[in-house]
Amino acid sequence: MKKMIIIGATSGIGESLARQAIRKGYKVGGTGRRVQRLEQMKDELGEHFHYREMDVVKKMKASSKLLSLVEEMGGMDIIVLNAGISNYPASSIISMEQEIIDVNVSGFVQLFGEAFQYFRQQGHGHIVGVSSIAGLFGSSRAAPYSASKAFISTYMQAYRQRCNSAGYDITITDVKPGFVKSEMIEGKKGLFWVAETEKAVRQMLTDIEKKKSYSYITRRWRFVAWLIKLTPNWVIDRL
Ligand SMILES: NC(=O)c1ccc[n+]([C@@H]2O[C@H](COP(=O)([O-])OP(=O)(O)OC[C@H]3O[C@@H](n4cnc5c(N)ncnc54)[C@H](OP(=O)(O)O)[C@@H]3O)[C@@H](O)[C@H]2O)c1
Repeated sequence: MKKMIIIGATSGIGESLARQAIRKGYKVGGTGRRVQRLEQMKDELGEHFHYREMDVVKKMKASSKLLSLVEEMGGMDIIVLNAGISNYPASSIISMEQEIIDVNVSGFVQLFGEAFQYFRQQGHGHIVGVSSIAGLFGSSRAAPYSASKAFISTYMQAYRQRCNSAGYDITITDVKPGFVKSEMIEGKKGLFWVAETEKAVRQMLTDIEKKKSYSYITRRWRFVAWLIKLTPNWVIDRL
């Protein structure tokens, strides 16, 4: 039975992934700060779901909780680094700038490092990081968010290069969602192509199982990514 740990499994994409992975026969470990939701999921999902209350900002504690979850599950084959926050819709960018960097960048790097070390020792493994289409360009309405996602995508690419050149059997999948229904986008205006969570996550899980390096969910966002990459900076600077 494959073992998948999902960091940020209490709502949205992470919760849906936990449910779909269990249905597909995985043993799943879920984490998040909202322990009541984890307890509720345990009641619903049963023996193949394990959990730890975890705040990724408390980096040392987060690392030791990850390792104790791995131990409880009897190993780890895949880790999905999904925990993330954004400044919209309710709060200003400035008040949340540092918080976004702490969760989306520092928390990510801490657990990525822990998982990488674990998989190096094990000899194989799969790290999935949930980035965003927003990481492909700067956005005035979400500067720290878009920059945090650019950071993790570049970081994962660098580690993928390292694995390729050193011959490590570690897959690194960069997931780039467009808009997906979740608490994160509740109340936000001007969104388009908002995907049902279930559908987006189904595509994501398929890409994980195919060990893809890049996963655009839903698929049509690959086209948008391609257009963004072709757009000159002088146009993006005026968006
Ligand atoms: N929805 C979209 O349109 C969209 C688009 C592009 C990318 N994404 C990315 O997808 C990922 C999942 O987001 P979502 O849309 O599913 O939103 P969500 O429902 O708000 O889920 C966010 C998850 O991150 C966890 N989390 C947040 N802060 C944390 C912390 N300090 N420590 C531990 N866990 C923390 C939350 O758990 P707790 O609150 O229980 O801690 C929750 O499980 C994020 O990385 C997001 O940036 C989403």
